[in-house]
Amino acid sequence: MAEVHLANVTKIYPGGVKAVDDLTLRVSDREFIVLVGPSGCGKTTTLRLIAGLEFLTAGRVSISGGVVNDVRPKDRDVAMVLQSYALYPHMSVYNNMAFGLKLRGVIKREIDRKVRSAAGMLGIEGLLDRKPNALSSGQRQRVALGRAIVRAPKVFLFDEPLSNLDARLRVQMRAELKELHRSLSTTIYVTHDQEEAMTLGDRVAVMNKGVIQQCGSPLQVYSQPVNRFVAGFIGTPPMNFLEGRLLREGGHYYFTEGANKIRLPQRLEKFLVGRENRQIVLGIRPESLAVKDGSKFSDTEPSLNVKVDVIEPLGNRSDLYITTAAGNRLVCRVETNSLPRNGAELVMHLNMDQVHLFEPGDEGVNIILRDAGGWSSAG
Ligand SMILES: Nc1ncnc2c1ncn2[C@@H]1O[C@H](COP(=O)(O)OP(=O)(O)O)[C@@H](O)[C@H]1O
Ligand SMILES: [Mg+2]
Repeated sequence: MAEVHLANVTKIYPGGVKAVDDLTLRVSDREFIVLVGPSGCGKTTTLRLIAGLEFLTAGRVSISGGVVNDVRPKDRDVAMVLQSYALYPHMSVYNNMAFGLKLRGVIKREIDRKVRSAAGMLGIEGLLDRKPNALSSGQRQRVALGRAIVRAPKVFLFDEPLSNLDARLRVQMRAELKELHRSLSTTIYVTHDQEEAMTLGDRVAVMNKGVIQQCGSPLQVYSQPVNRFVAGFIGTPPMNFLEGRLLREGGHYYFTEGANKIRLPQRLEKFLVGRENRQIVLGIRPESLAVKDGSKFSDTEPSLNVKVDVIEPLGNRSDLYITTAAGNRLVCRVETNSLPRNGAELVMHLNMDQVHLFEPGDEGVNIILRDAGGWSSAG
């Protein structure tokens, strides 16, 4: 059993940078959890705290139920795989993988068995005699993985291990890692790439400014983001945000921005009471917007008047970058065979089943989730 528990963990570096801020996270045995967030949000620091490579300013780190705050890194039984593979250039692949076991006094026959078994798992049996400089970056990454696997640690820590690979190889290794995890133990994986996070994680913890904003299944963070930060970070192209005002008229609620006025569905009304005439942010994903075809939709349907700024072709689909008269910018994805012209004025239809409402600000809370008690905690 290798459960990892971070309880109210804070790290302030000398000089005063608060890299991790009162972070609580419970990772279950054999779980694959991904910490994802922008550069500088505290991901590496969190891993280093778990590995014992940094001292905590406050809080507790436990592995398998025991507090390890004062346990030395080499006694924590964790293995870390880094973006820079940190292989020994003068040693063969075999010796790079065997080195940690030798240091631990494992007998030769056992080392050989482990190295060959890990090499088999990773498909690098044929490379064992080579030196790292005779390997491609993908092969080096496999050796770095192999070096961690032979140790059979309780916990694997990955710090952006695929960042140095080209796009194609990254996708391939991603699939292999997911497969590999079945035979590995508890894994905490760090990346800034939300797509990697969504495809790899049993759960995804979205971080910003040293704080876990939301932790949940990939689908949960995608479809029920707790705040605007999570909503905007997860998904490509990202969610669109329209800044406007909430209006109540004739017993109905409306979102208004400039001349655009969108009637909000009745199911949302109970969350909107008392917010009349206040600033509000409407969030809608690109796939929930469609170019309105006069024959399909009636006038009472929720729509936006927009102008096309840029068209970005992606093959069978294209991204339209559009602006409203009030200055809100949006992206929507359309079929390439029915493209408007650059500069054209369009009416966009909004799928109101997929609309989110946030309070103003970069981390403005999801009003509907919060009031519905839909917070998912990281603990
Ligand atoms: N050794 C250090 N000393 C001082 N500040 C640091 C140190 N390492 C990281 N930081 C700062 O802590 C914050 C979090 O860094 P880091 O954990 O590396 O983020 P991430 O891995 O998410 O990019 C950043 O503001 C970074 O500049
Ligand atoms: Mg980092």
